[in-house]
Amino acid sequence: MGLPGSLRMLLLSVWFFCSLTVLESLELSTSSTSDARELDALLQDHAYQAFARPRTGVVYQGVVPSNLTGIQVSAMRLRSGSLKTRGVSMYQEFVIPVGVVEQPYVERLVLVYQNLGNWSMTYYPPLQGYMYLAPVLGLLAYDASDLMAKNLPELDIQASGEPISIKFSSITRVPDGLVAKCVSFDLNGSVNLSNALAGNICTTFKQGHFSIVAESIAPSSPPIPMAPPRSPPPPPPPPPNDEKNKSKVWKIVGSVVGGIALLVVLGGLVVWGRKYKQRKEMNQMERAADVGEALHMTTVGTTKAPAATGTRTQPALETEYMP
Ligand SMILES: *[C@@H]1O[C@H](CO)[C@@H](O)[C@H](O)[C@H]1NC(C)=O
Ligand SMILES: *[C@@H]1O[C@H](CO)[C@@H](O)[C@H](O)[C@H]1NC(C)=O
Ligand SMILES: *[C@@H]1O[C@H](CO)[C@@H](O)[C@H](O)[C@H]1NC(C)=O
Ligand SMILES: *[C@@H]1O[C@H](CO)[C@@H](O)[C@H](O)[C@H]1NC(C)=O
Repeated sequence: MGLPGSLRMLLLSVWFFCSLTVLESLELSTSSTSDARELDALLQDHAYQAFARPRTGVVYQGVVPSNLTGIQVSAMRLRSGSLKTRGVSMYQEFVIPVGVVEQPYVERLVLVYQNLGNWSMTYYPPLQGYMYLAPVLGLLAYDASDLMAKNLPELDIQASGEPISIKFSSITRVPDGLVAKCVSFDLNGSVNLSNALAGNICTTFKQGHFSIVAESIAPSSPPIPMAPPRSPPPPPPPPPNDEKNKSKVWKIVGSVVGGIALLVVLGGLVVWGRKYKQRKEMNQMERAADVGEALHMTTVGTTKAPAATGTRTQPALETEYMP
């Protein structure tokens, strides 16, 4: 039996609502990654602007827009051959060993360093149950052939021998009962936790963003928010975060409203379905009644048409029956 058209429409709209709700929740989980990638592009541009007469192997400090005060960015241009055979003994907190190679091959590359400072939690929200003990640091590699270029794709750099190490200079004291861990975010937003080496050192074979977090092993201890480096408490609620939170709230409200609409539609479907079934039963009963009286076919011109026999029993209501 084929579904009647209107029922098919109803099912289609229910399906549409369901997909909308699912899309909404997927977007919730990826929005912060795309914000972080936009920041990477912006910081690449500002780091490149720091090169006046660039000399290789020299660290140039970039200037960030005033609405991102608190973030530090710098850039260093290198010959890729020198990076591979000599490494970089110290680039801010990063120690780059020999054997780091880029894909695809370029003659010269730029290593962009980022220190997100008090913006760390905005762009890299800490995992549930963890808190930052240090700012998020980034190390990203780009082609150096055009120092005016914007929106450059990152080169893929890999340490082929020893890993790159990151020496976090000043970290918040590890609170009692908590364990310090290294956290790394790759450019696709996937997160990895690993043990910190003595002296707050983390290691990586790839570029990305890195920090130190404390894992809460005592769930009763309240989480301590990360303080901006070398600045006294208390940090007021960050106003630029408001916008993001607001948009998140709206997305959640949207999902809830969508869910309620879905429930209403489903409820309507159930009621409608019952009515439809009732009507079908009525139709069947009427048809069964009709079958009781066979119609005679008569010829009108060239077509055949049903015709009723001369006398039909007139229906009478029970209340009209008088003995
Ligand atoms: C900072 O301001 C620029 C415009 O000057 C704007 O494009 C950008 O989105 C702003 N960034 C933040 C994080 O507010
Ligand atoms: C970080 O600190 C600077 C001042 O040092 C401030 O202008 C900025 O709004 C702060 N950012 C956040 C996200 O709190
Ligand atoms: C990110 O994802 C793309 C496509 O899924 C993949 O080609 C790339 O290697 C990934 N990058 C990292 C750093 O994992
Ligand atoms: C996560 O870290 C572990 C240990 O350092 C490493 O073996 C693994 O390859 C990492 N995974 C990713 C996706 O980076």
